[in-house]
Amino acid sequence: MHGAVMTERENMPEKPWGGRFREKTEKLLEEFSASVQFDCRLFRQDIAGSRAHARMLGKQGIISQADVRAICRGLDEIEKEIESGAFEWRQDLEDVHMNIERALVAKIGEAGKRLHTARSRNDQVATDVRLYLRGEIDRIDLQLADLQEAFLHQAEKFMDLPMPGYTHLQRAQPVLWAHHMLAYFEMTDRDRERLMDCRKRVNLCPLGSAALAGTGFPIDRDAVARELGFIGITANSLDSVGDRDFIVEFLSAASLIMAHLSRLSEELILWSSREFGFIELPDGFCTGSSIMPQKKNPDVPELVRGKTGRVYGNLMSVLTVVKALPLAYNRDLQEDKEALLDTIDTVSSCVEITAALVSRMTPRKGSLSRAVSTGFLTATDMADYLVNKGVPFREAHAIVGKAVSKCIARGVELTELTIEELKAISSLIEEDVFEVLSVTGSLEARKSSGGTAPSMVERALKEAKKRFRRRKREDLY
Ligand code: ARG
Repeated sequence: MHGAVMTERENMPEKPWGGRFREKTEKLLEEFSASVQFDCRLFRQDIAGSRAHARMLGKQGIISQADVRAICRGLDEIEKEIESGAFEWRQDLEDVHMNIERALVAKIGEAGKRLHTARSRNDQVATDVRLYLRGEIDRIDLQLADLQEAFLHQAEKFMDLPMPGYTHLQRAQPVLWAHHMLAYFEMTDRDRERLMDCRKRVNLCPLGSAALAGTGFPIDRDAVARELGFIGITANSLDSVGDRDFIVEFLSAASLIMAHLSRLSEELILWSSREFGFIELPDGFCTGSSIMPQKKNPDVPELVRGKTGRVYGNLMSVLTVVKALPLAYNRDLQEDKEALLDTIDTVSSCVEITAALVSRMTPRKGSLSRAVSTGFLTATDMADYLVNKGVPFREAHAIVGKAVSKCIARGVELTELTIEELKAISSLIEEDVFEVLSVTGSLEARKSSGGTAPSMVERALKEAKKRFRRRKREDLY
């Protein structure tokens, strides 16, 4: 048997490349190489790209207006069929692009066969993924905004609530609950900035780069880019079809989002334990034990903490796919999609549920106030007090250190010492030291910019809200 394997009805090869081939594609290869099971998620972007491409071909006189109309009508129908679930995805047609193109030809004949003029799947897939990712970045950005709103809500609602601040997970100095919440607000703000920065490089149109070298047809790349809402076109055709930097950038921004969520999750898990008892998580977001009746487990933050691993893994996997890859397109690049899609799904669900959890958790004032008033959290304040009386800081530090060690031996706090006992530590100490050693005194003293003094935190909250509203408006362009 010689000649291409042709379909009877459409008078074209079964595979788009079938003209050159004499043998049928092995089933084993079809199964191995198909991507339609996951890239079918790109169908809307693929169809939008095809519409824009067809219109441009028509305007440039490369295909007729009648063909453009037929193509657009056919694509509309296909889109509806896919949305309704009536569309039959075929694994032997490999990917979303060939499935849709073949369905179009089956619907409208000749005109459908003209759509792929001046285009390749290489620039097509790059365009689809960029369009898809742009939309998903915007969706995740809105979810991050919800998370920020939850932090703002917590900060505002419990504005004056003190809690222990930690370093090395050891009680260090008193801070405000609101200050802690605003720390996460800032982390989330950087996450959003990173996404928006990455979006700029996602939002460029590679279509028209064709297979790798551009095309001889008189196409108008800018028109296609405009129609698809891109801010411009990519510069170099070889780079356009081989570039996946924008995916790596997104995956690394996503990894940092997860890093932040995992830090928060870890704290929520600790805080909701009996040992800390700092917060109460809403029942609806916890599970019990099938054997231990007393249990209330923080599954949500545990899962978020656990899912961080797969997002880091996805970043590593795409970085490794592009490593040492020769220009331009190589089939290796198909491996970008599952990592990308899984990351989008994971990050998005984690941000969403964390926002819900944060907005509905309640701090337990009793345990927080007990924790903040035991453990010498105001020892630094006593040293600062001595400094204000002229003692060099290092000396003051040593004096207070000795006092703390005595207190530990006796099982008391600094505040429980009498004024005589304190005077024995340093003759410079007077009655007013008790105010300095109080949690309120300690908090109020920390008036440096970005510090935890209530007046500073109030100002920070106002500034954060302003920035938050401004960013929301900017994102609406
Ligand atoms: N499914 C392919 C991918 O995701 C589309 C591009 C195929 N190009 C090719 N020359 N085989 O990368």
